[in-house]
Amino acid sequence: MPDMLVKLYALPNWADLRDKLAQQSVDIRRAIAPEKHLVVSWVRQTFGELWASETEVAFTNHPVSCYIATHDKHILGFACCDATCKNFFGPTGVAESERGRGIGKALLLACLDAMCAQGYGYAIIGAAGPTAFYEKAVGATVIEDSSPGIYRGMLWS
Ligand SMILES: CC(C)(COP(=O)(O)OP(=O)(O)OC[C@H]1O[C@@H](n2cnc3c(N)ncnc32)[C@H](O)[C@@H]1OP(=O)(O)O)[C@@H](O)C(=O)NCCC(=O)NCCS
Repeated sequence: MPDMLVKLYALPNWADLRDKLAQQSVDIRRAIAPEKHLVVSWVRQTFGELWASETEVAFTNHPVSCYIATHDKHILGFACCDATCKNFFGPTGVAESERGRGIGKALLLACLDAMCAQGYGYAIIGAAGPTAFYEKAVGATVIEDSSPGIYRGMLWS
């Protein structure tokens, strides 16, 4: 899985998407520290230990660099940045039953907007699985020879 590059100075406006989700009572927002155990445990149960570890790191940042989608006090999806590497987006995921509603794109753009506001010019999608999703959502382009990239030699069980 290659890394991908995103131009943070050319991000699409997603105000309409945020409004659409808000009308469906889906809130996209930065997670806060007291939610750490709930978010990390949801990520672990839904996506496994590797992403739970990265999410824990996102909660050590100030401000927390993990965004969540919620509905009626339930987590529907999450996205992190500045976790395994500074300037990296990911991991991210949406509950299988909630996919295709724009939640993944909204979480991606919430993170990328925050990275842009922090002063980054570009963001890197780390080990992008669904490259077509990132191309379509934010015009991301594949970085040649970037796999396994920063993950080379990683312990795995
Ligand atoms: C990838 C993922 C986060 C997308 O979330 P989602 O909420 O289903 O995506 P959205 O509904 O926001 O999709 C936004 C757009 O991307 C498109 N899209 C979504 N997944 C896609 C994919 N795998 N390939 C190509 N296009 C995709 C949608 O059709 C939609 O297009 P539109 O704007 O024309 O309607 C979700 O499928 C997921 O959790 N996958 C498993 C975990 C994963 O692979 N995470 C990424 C690791 S790098």
